[in-house]
Amino acid sequence: MKKLTSQTVSEAFHYKTGIKLGRKIYSGNGDIYHLIGYCARLVKIDHSYRTFNELKEMKSIVDKLKYLHKQNNPSVVKLYDVGTFKHSRNGDVHHAYYYIMEKLNLLPHKGRWHLVSDLRATIESNIPLDPAHPRKFHRFIERAQQLSLIHSDLHEYNLMVDKKGTPKFIDLESFW
Ligand SMILES: Nc1ncnc2c1ncn2[C@@H]1O[C@H](COP(=O)(O)OP(=O)(O)O)[C@@H](O)[C@H]1O
Ligand SMILES: [Mg+2]
Repeated sequence: MKKLTSQTVSEAFHYKTGIKLGRKIYSGNGDIYHLIGYCARLVKIDHSYRTFNELKEMKSIVDKLKYLHKQNNPSVVKLYDVGTFKHSRNGDVHHAYYYIMEKLNLLPHKGRWHLVSDLRATIESNIPLDPAHPRKFHRFIERAQQLSLIHSDLHEYNLMVDKKGTPKFIDLESFW
């Protein structure tokens, strides 16, 4: 019987996308990597799926990611590609999904957090926008209200800003 060759995540990702993974900068539910040749982009990869049920779960995440990719809402981190791949480790097949996104920055300073601390309530209940809030947050909230999905894990590290200072959601698995 033919032996499965062991393929690392990075080899399998390269095979799928033609892009080489750079340094891993974060390890959590998924891992965040730099991409060689794309300094303004990052990729999030979650390769922990092993059973059929886990794979189904992954499919529903991937459908949401594809929807967000298509919708291209300016209050969500810009997506360049969403997909899945398989890799094998010691003969076991593992399933992964990934999304390539624009690289963002931390919220400018902690002092701003009070502006977004009640963001969820603002987004969900159409509270009239507080004229004291900066315009970028106004527009962020307006566009977030146009999303048909709701971010369920809102905290200051899941909201970042692009180079123009526009706030955007990350951690897209948290949309439901
Ligand atoms: N587009 C991005 N630009 C810059 N940093 C990012 C981006 N996406 C994620 N990160 C960094 O990686 C961390 C974890 O990403 P996230 O998707 O929130 O994963 P987790 O589900 O583990 O919280 C973020 O808090 C942030 O520091
Ligand atoms: Mg997060």
